[in-house]
Amino acid sequence: MLDKHGFLEKNGLILSIGILITVAIGGVIEIAPLFYLESTIEEVEGVRPYSPLELAGRNIYVREGCYTCHSQQVRPLRDEVERYGHYSLAAESMYDHPFQWGSKRTGPDLARLGGKYSDEWHREHMIDPRKLVPESIMPPYKFLAETQLDYSQVENWLKANRAVGVPYTDKMVENATSDLRAQLDPFSEDYDAFIARYPKAQIRDFDGDPRMISEMDALIAYLQMLGTLVDFETYKAEENYR
Ligand code: HEC
Repeated sequence: MLDKHGFLEKNGLILSIGILITVAIGGVIEIAPLFYLESTIEEVEGVRPYSPLELAGRNIYVREGCYTCHSQQVRPLRDEVERYGHYSLAAESMYDHPFQWGSKRTGPDLARLGGKYSDEWHREHMIDPRKLVPESIMPPYKFLAETQLDYSQVENWLKANRAVGVPYTDKMVENATSDLRAQLDPFSEDYDAFIARYPKAQIRDFDGDPRMISEMDALIAYLQMLGTLVDFETYKAEENYR
């Protein structure tokens, strides 16, 4: 066997073909099983598609390029977990198209941001970051509070996400406009239907100005739900392994 190896090593072309075959075998063993798995993401209780208002806020997050400075992925390393909280689960970004993991942290990770600050803090911070964090280099986004949210296409946003696998039901698509409004109004008559469709959704006027549905409303609704869907008091990683 060993002396035959000499023949391979002296013939470049045959050696290359040999390498190709060996690597291909390894590749097939690694990749082929993935074709037979329905999903590589284990489902976790609590994770649901974004509500229409949260989705609108997410669109603004993407449009403004927040991901260029912020990641949304807590890695399972001790310093990260101590700073941000439980490490991110794959399921927590399963409805993100495209995902917002980011690759650079000029600012802190935002994956567990929900509930860390008040709505008021977010509004003031967005309008003028340096008012709250004097050394901040984050740009101001004052215009979001002054810009009316354009949600004329909200049904289509849901449909587009459904096309890539997010399980929005026909009812969710049909009621997208009223659901978006319902999330901003605790006294809305659509409240019960809305909360049944989007459990754990937070309902209130997010930017402190009930006269207008602003882009700030949507963005803060999105920021306040980040990382809040899974209850880590009851979540046990082992139980999710099948
Ligand atoms: C140029 C880089 C940059 C961009 C772009 C940026 N940020 Fe920031 N962000 C920072 C920095 C730096 C901090 C830390 C200082 C501070 O709190 O202002 C920060 C802090 C934050 C915080 C507070 C996080 C915490 O846990 O204390 C939030 C929330 C936030 N940014 C949201 C956003 C959103 C939403 C956008 C897009 C609309 C955005 N940022 C765009 C740099 C950026």
